[in-house]
Formats: sequence, C-alpha cells, structure tokens
Amino acid sequence: MPHDQDAVLKTGERISIRPIRPDDETLLVRFHEGLSDQTVYLRYFHMLNLTQRISAERLRRVCRPDPVSEVALVAVGRNPADLTPELMGVARLHLGGGTTVGEFSIVVADRFQGMGLGGVLMQRLMRVARAEGLTRLQADVLSANTNMKKMCRRLGIPVLPTDDPQLWRADVAL
Ligand SMILES: CC(C)(COP(=O)(O)OP(=O)(O)OC[C@H]1O[C@@H](n2cnc3c(N)ncnc32)[C@H](O)[C@@H]1OP(=O)(O)O)[C@@H](O)C(=O)NCCC(=O)NCCS
Repeated sequence: MPHDQDAVLKTGERISIRPIRPDDETLLVRFHEGLSDQTVYLRYFHMLNLTQRISAERLRRVCRPDPVSEVALVAVGRNPADLTPELMGVARLHLGGGTTVGEFSIVVADRFQGMGLGGVLMQRLMRVARAEGLTRLQADVLSANTNMKKMCRRLGIPVLPTDDPQLWRADVAL
C-alpha cells in the first residue's frame, strides 16, 4: 500500500500525498463543493450534480476503496485561512481485474489547477500501478480537455484520438 509522501508544487507549497481514508469524508465534501461545472464535466463526462457527488453512499464507497481492485490517492494541503487540512486533488486507479491493464482518473480542485499537482499525482499513481504489477495505464479523455492532454504529454504519456471524435485515449506502458 502506498505511504504518505511529501511533494512541492510550482508555487513552492508543500503538500502531502497519501491513500484516501474513511475519515476523509468531510474533506471530500468540501472538495466537491469547490469544483466548477467545467471540472466536473471534464472528469465525469457529464454533469453529476453536487447532491449526487456527495451522497452518503457514494462518500462511503469512495473513501473506502476495495483494496483488491482500487487505489485512491489524495493530495492534502493546508487552508491558508485557518491551517486546517484541505483536499486539493484525487487520483484513482482501477486495477486490471485479471489483466495487467489499469484505468486511471484524476481531478484537481479548480484553484489548484495549473500548479503541477496533476503531474505529481499522476507520477505517484504510475509508481503505485507498477508496484501493483500493472503493465499499462489507460484513461478516456474528452477531446476538448487540453489541460489533461498537456499534462499527459509533459509526462510522456501518449494521448491519441479514437474513432469517437469526442474522445481521446491516454495509454502508457509502465
Ligand atoms: C487535467 C488536470 C488533472 C491537470 O491537473 P493540473 O494540476 O492542472 O496539471 P498541471 O498543473 O500539471 O497542468 C497541466 C497543464 O495545463 C495547464 N493548466 C492547467 N490548468 C490550467 C488553468 N486553469 N489555466 C491555465 N492553464 C492551466 C498547465 O499550465 C499545464 O500546462 P504546461 O504543461 O504547459 O505547464 C486538472 O486540470 C483537472 O483536474 N481538470 C479537470 C478534471 C479533468 O479533466 N480530469 C481528467 C479526466 S481524464
């Protein structure tokens, strides 16, 4: 299981990256409250409203990933106003289910986008995926998602168009 690890953003801010925990539910609610419609759409490919995203059932499930099939990492910083912990991003990995190909997803809170956090989370996720024995990682990416494409390319993750004009595919050998 991945352990806590520090990382430094482009802004110089020091953050901690660790597996999600059952007691993250409150932080996750605040995280979802802060996401813009655009970010939600780019992550889920359709509008998933706040009530759906923070339903008790969903929060419980998301904060307690099945260790056999899932890994979820969170990036945690300190709120500058009161220094309480603040969730800045979530990266999830679905293990292959009998194959060595995993699916990933990643979302960074709007006000922390463009600071390199997505890249840090992605690199950490790839390390965890390798340790779990995966050989490839894949994700669907909306063709309009220029920031995700940029982030992947900067990390050397190929992102290519598919037969569906709305959809690109990130696919990296580990
Ligand atoms: C895609 C995403 C995960 C990238 O995370 P991030 O922390 O913003 O990543 P980075 O800081 O490494 O930025 C990626 C690139 O996009 C640019 N960028 C990201 N957000 C930006 C913003 N709001 N305004 C301007 N540029 C932005 C960065 O400058 C960077 O470009 P560069 O490599 O030329 O410097 C994040 O933007 C996000 O959560 N988006 C919404 C959800 C989503 O699209 N998830 C992916 C689903 S497949």
